[in-house]
Amino acid sequence: MTDKLKVDLRGAPQTMLATFYAKALDADLPNSILHDTWARDIVDRIDYDWSRTTITATKSPAVTTRSAHFDRWARQFLATHPEAVVLHLGCGLDSRFFRLAPGPGVEWYDIDYPDVARLRTQLYPAAEHYHVIPASVTDPTWLQDIPAGRPTLMIAEGLTMYLTEQDGIALLRRVVDHFDSGELQFDAFNRWGIKGDWTNAVVRRAGAHLHWAINKPEDILKAVPGTRLLAWASPFDDDSFDHVVWYYRWTVKAMGTLPALRYMAQYHRYAF
Ligand SMILES: C[S@@+](CC[C@H](N)C(=O)[O-])C[C@H]1O[C@@H](n2cnc3c(N)ncnc32)[C@H](O)[C@@H]1O
Repeated sequence: MTDKLKVDLRGAPQTMLATFYAKALDADLPNSILHDTWARDIVDRIDYDWSRTTITATKSPAVTTRSAHFDRWARQFLATHPEAVVLHLGCGLDSRFFRLAPGPGVEWYDIDYPDVARLRTQLYPAAEHYHVIPASVTDPTWLQDIPAGRPTLMIAEGLTMYLTEQDGIALLRRVVDHFDSGELQFDAFNRWGIKGDWTNAVVRRAGAHLHWAINKPEDILKAVPGTRLLAWASPFDDDSFDHVVWYYRWTVKAMGTLPALRYMAQYHRYAF
């Protein structure tokens, strides 16, 4: 008999087990990047053979540097918009709300498919100003209930590549149209990253498929009227890599010099 929660997820929802496990492993490393003690404490409450994720402590910086990057951008937005609304799309089991601990003026919405949202509510405590919405981000109806008049931050980490281009563009347009002002912060894969989905063990094992290639900021600026570019970066430029073990750091530095790899994954930030 075990009190642990069983998970049986397929496709894109399963991939969040890998990113979550990477954060749990990272938390115990002497040179931890994300310090996600929520992930570390929650991981043992889930009945899952974590070796199936293929994630090891050595591979964890590929995930945790990205999360640390979006934590930094989100903190910057919240520092100047203490009354913000946050839409955390495709949140998986990520503890960003608890890591950032936003002030009482912030209204935070974590959104993911119902199976993932249910798991979240079983594993994380309820909190004031914190909401979990069980829905596909491509469903236009959930947005209608969210107050529109406050500065709004949309974060989508590890999400856009699972959407079709048509659904992704429609989603960004809906957010820009619904809210008065704010920022869009998300990562994306270019066409080589999307084509290479069969080489991505996490995606392949989950039986998930990647669809939407974003090659440069102009793809977004043209397709989503009202957006203005704030930042576009390669993950290889991230300072967080300076803290990882030397052989990983050197591999990353070498990969970052190859143009084909440099922008295979990208971080995007827009104002609207
Ligand atoms: C790679 S995981 C990333 C999870 C989390 N953002 C992180 O970085 O740890 C992808 C997440 O996107 C979610 N997702 C994919 N398509 C979605 C959709 N149409 N609606 C809601 N969530 C979606 C999956 O369920 C999964 O939780």
